[in-house]
Amino acid sequence: MRVNGAELFVRDSGRKDGPAVVLLHGFPFSHAMWVPQFPLLEPAWRVVAPDFRGQGRSDPGDGQYTIELLVDDLCGILDGLGVAKAVVVGLSMGGYVALRFAEREPARLRALVLADTKAPADGNEAKVQRAAGMRKAKTEGAAAFAEGFLPKALAPETLRNRPEVVARARGLIEACPPLGIAGTLLALAARPDATEPLARIRVPTLVVVGEKDAITPPGDSKALAAGIAGAKLVTVPGAGHLSNLENPDAFNAVLLLFLEGLPPA
Ligand code: MLT
Repeated sequence: MRVNGAELFVRDSGRKDGPAVVLLHGFPFSHAMWVPQFPLLEPAWRVVAPDFRGQGRSDPGDGQYTIELLVDDLCGILDGLGVAKAVVVGLSMGGYVALRFAEREPARLRALVLADTKAPADGNEAKVQRAAGMRKAKTEGAAAFAEGFLPKALAPETLRNRPEVVARARGLIEACPPLGIAGTLLALAARPDATEPLARIRVPTLVVVGEKDAITPPGDSKALAAGIAGAKLVTVPGAGHLSNLENPDAFNAVLLLFLEGLPPA
C-alpha cells in the first residue's frame, strides 16, 4: 500500500466485516512477529498488521523516521483500508506508536493493549546506545545487529530451550534493511515522553509484560498501568521482551479475555 510516499506492507486478514484490531510490531521485526496471534484473532476480527516503514517488507525510504511519521503512516493505512476505529495492540516500539496514536487520534481508538513497552523517552545513555546500534547496522548489517540484540530481548530460558523461537526472531531481524534499522533507531532515540498524556487515555487498556523482560522490565509496565485510568496489568510467566512469541499460550489467553470483555463497538 502506498502511504506518505512509501510502499508499506500491510497484512489485512480475518473477518472483513468484523471489528478491527491493529497489531503493531516491535523493533526490529515485522508483522510476522504476530504469527502466534493470527489464528486466535482471525475468526472474529479484522486483523490489520503492518510492517513499519524500514522494517520487514516495507520500503526504507530515506531512513529519516520519527514516531510522528509512523503515526502518520498508521493513519494513512487505516484510511486506505476504510477502518474508522480499532483496538490497537502495540509491543515495545509498537507500544510507543500506539501511545502517540492514542494521544493524537483518540476518536479512532476503541481499546489499547500495551505489551512490553513504556512511556518515558530515552535518557542520554540510551541515546548513545542507539547511535552505536545505528553504526553497527550500517557498517556490519542486520545479522550483526541481531547478534547483539537477541540476548537482551529473549529470556534466558528462551535462549537455552527454544531454538525455534530464537531462529524466528533472528530471521525477522535479518530481514530488515540496515537503513531501516538505523532510521528506526533515530525515531526511537528522538521519541517524545508519553508519560504526561497517559492521564488522558480514556479507553479500556491492558498492559502486558514478560516476567523476564530486560529491555522494558516489569517495573516500567507497572508505572505505565498506574498512569492510565482503569488499566489492567498482567505478567506473562517465563517470557522476556517478546512475550507474545516466547509464551504465546499465556499471552493469547490474556489478550482474548481482554478483547472478549470489551464493551460493544
Ligand atoms: C522494541 O522491541 O521495539 C525495542 O526494543 C524498543 C526499544 O529499544 O526501546
